[in-house]
Amino acid sequence: MAIVDLRDETEAFTANPYPYYEKLREAGPVHHVRTADVDEMWLVVGYEEGRRALADPRLSKNWRNSELWDPEQASPMSSNMLETDPPQHARLRKLVAREFTVRRVEALRPRVQQITDDLVDSLLAKGSSHGPADLIDALAFPLPMTVICELLGVPDLDRDRFRAWSNEVVAPTGTETSVAAVGEMGAYLVELIEDKRRSPAGDLMSDLIRARDEDGDRLSPDELVGMAFLLLVAGHETTVNLISNGVRALLSHPGQLAALRADFDGLLDGAVEEMLRYEGPVENATFRFTREPLELAGVPVPAGKPVLVSLAAGDRDPARYPDPDRFDIRRAPQGHLAFGHGIHFCVGAPLARLEGRIAIRTLLERCPDLALDPGAGALDWLPGLLIRGVRELPVRW
Ligand code: HEM
Repeated sequence: MAIVDLRDETEAFTANPYPYYEKLREAGPVHHVRTADVDEMWLVVGYEEGRRALADPRLSKNWRNSELWDPEQASPMSSNMLETDPPQHARLRKLVAREFTVRRVEALRPRVQQITDDLVDSLLAKGSSHGPADLIDALAFPLPMTVICELLGVPDLDRDRFRAWSNEVVAPTGTETSVAAVGEMGAYLVELIEDKRRSPAGDLMSDLIRARDEDGDRLSPDELVGMAFLLLVAGHETTVNLISNGVRALLSHPGQLAALRADFDGLLDGAVEEMLRYEGPVENATFRFTREPLELAGVPVPAGKPVLVSLAAGDRDPARYPDPDRFDIRRAPQGHLAFGHGIHFCVGAPLARLEGRIAIRTLLERCPDLALDPGAGALDWLPGLLIRGVRELPVRW
């Protein structure tokens, strides 16, 4: 099978990857591709095949099983559950999973609502009374960031610096800057954990530190850094785009918006699921690596190769979702891949859903005329294959 070259399609592809995925899917569910960053990898664009690959134990999440592994770039931050396989994976996940159950997260509702109300208050009080303002700066970024910082117990996190590093990690703009960002962020997290160790409190980070101190082999120092890294990055880089992609989808589908406004109680939860399916924050899952030579949907893949499961492509597979390019808040898209599938299924999904629902409902209720700013230029899409989202979303009300 010929290798598909995605190197030249960067800009148009980043702005709207769906037609490319569709074309590939029509030719088959799995493709051997080349991108600007990786010479060869296997891209899964079918829903069923993607779901199967996400749960396939022959695919490892550990970079040491990859021919791309470079020991010089090893970082303590890699000791996290999303970059480990069983049995280490279960051990790490178990330590935090109980914090993110639907029940535990429901207890955060009043606080999430209050943070949202405060942010929307400031938005409406800003400068001119009708905007424009950047919804990402005003709400979509600070809400999940504040929530995850409070949960972990790092309210003083240097958010601007952290955001810059974190952007580099999930949507790298160049190898050197990205490598530097990883180093600086790692050093910053080590210090943050040291501070927390000196003044522990009743928060998640203190619990994790204690878990380690009481039972020497439970969380190594690297694992502690890895956990803080993963929760802080995953806790905000994604939800920001659930809110902004979701609001954008609604504002560009006035019929759907009107229906939702007329029946929040009946339609909100389903609308958020459709936002996740239609334009989810994670375009492609993180790399998996073949432990052995194998076949994916009949396509041979040698050992040590990266496999990329396209969640965006799977969630627009017409074999699973009829008329997949139609945004329909009544669709009830059960089984969408936006949070992944299998043992690495997003541990923060209940929290992300809670934040997304509260943010969108509050914003629409408080701004009856909310609209995309007609004066704004073209949207500036985040680079890279991992995250689907824009840097700014100018709105008026
Ligand atoms: C709308 C928001 C979110 C989306 C779309 C999302 C999506 C995902 C996806 C697709 C994965 C699996 C990646 C893969 O298998 O390669 C994942 C894993 C993960 N997510 Fe989320 N996420 C969101 C919010 C959150 C939040 C708020 C948190 C933290 C509190 C979080 C923490 C995690 C963690 C820790 C993992 C790794 C789980 C594991 O390896 O077992 N995520 N997420």
